[in-house]
Amino acid sequence: MQSKRRVSIIGTGSYVPEKVLTNQDLEAIVETSDEWIYSRTGMRERHIAAPEQATSDLGAEAAKKAISDAGIDVAEIDLIIVATLSPDMFFPSTACFVQDKIGAKNAYCFDLGAACSGFLYAMDTAKNMIASGAAETALVIGSEKMSTFIDWEDRATCILFGDGAGAAVLRAGGEGRGVMDAVMGSDGSLADLLSTPGGGSRNPMTHEMLDQKMQYLQMQGREVFKHAVTRMTETVISTLEKNNISADEVKCFIPHQANIRIIDAIAKKLKVADRMYSNVDKYANTSSAALAIALDEAVKDGTIRKGDLVVLTVFGGGFTWGANVLEWGK
Ligand code: COA
Repeated sequence: MQSKRRVSIIGTGSYVPEKVLTNQDLEAIVETSDEWIYSRTGMRERHIAAPEQATSDLGAEAAKKAISDAGIDVAEIDLIIVATLSPDMFFPSTACFVQDKIGAKNAYCFDLGAACSGFLYAMDTAKNMIASGAAETALVIGSEKMSTFIDWEDRATCILFGDGAGAAVLRAGGEGRGVMDAVMGSDGSLADLLSTPGGGSRNPMTHEMLDQKMQYLQMQGREVFKHAVTRMTETVISTLEKNNISADEVKCFIPHQANIRIIDAIAKKLKVADRMYSNVDKYANTSSAALAIALDEAVKDGTIRKGDLVVLTVFGGGFTWGANVLEWGK
């Protein structure tokens, strides 16, 4: 058995569709206001995919940018994991569609379901597969066409989400400590607080199910809010403690982008408000894509530089959550 190998992120990329939907645009769709949305969520606008764009199309665009950023040939990729809750179809996997679109013929491909936590779950899975020697070069993607699974008549949810994709290329080796360690968790007893209950084997696709709008995301916002703050804060602390790192040493914290008030509450508890990254104003909550897009932007805008310690943390339906720590090596 091979010993564990160091794993680094060697490239990132992201893509959001062209169409922008502002809070003012939403005022024409449901009874809401820019003031309500911005003060409760920190969101100003979100991007919405074109009707002909599916989740794999968004993911493939982000993937191409990450591969170009990594400076590798697509044939070198031997693993593709797509984290999504809005797949192109139940099967085949969205990862297989992405593989075909980018021509990554040597990869084996699967989707990973951990709702909004998916990108970090996928990164942790890929990291461990590479560290064990089971893979060499992994393409990890978070991609969502949330707009298809949102009830555009429900003002409590439709204002919160956007479409987009982010990707990272992971590979064995690299300078510094790379993707170091993660602490992940789940609590299936709270699944009903955030779910899309219809369309699967529990509530199959029937006219009655569609009439009840069970094919759309349903959420108890206040409960989700509280759990998100608690879990992401606890998990970041556990990850830092487990790796003997103090919060002062971390250059940048990137949390799941669900609501600026959630992000601010975590920052306050951790006392790291000056190093908390957010772009929720521009993209709203893009679920599993949110962390991936934020990571790419933080790298490209110079917030994260070579040698910096970075902490990523997520929370999502399931409930699922996690945090990891990495040293940026590029
Ligand atoms: N525009 C205007 N009013 C709205 C509204 C909207 N878009 N959505 C809800 N309201 C109203 C409600 O009807 C309610 O009215 P009432 O007091 O007359 O009943 C009032 O605003 C307060 O609603 P409430 O749901 O209690 O607001 P809140 O302060 O909890 O904020 C969220 C709502 C959804 C923004 C907040 O709970 C949240 O962000 N939760 C976490 C969501 C999340 O992150 N999900 C994904 C996690 S991965």
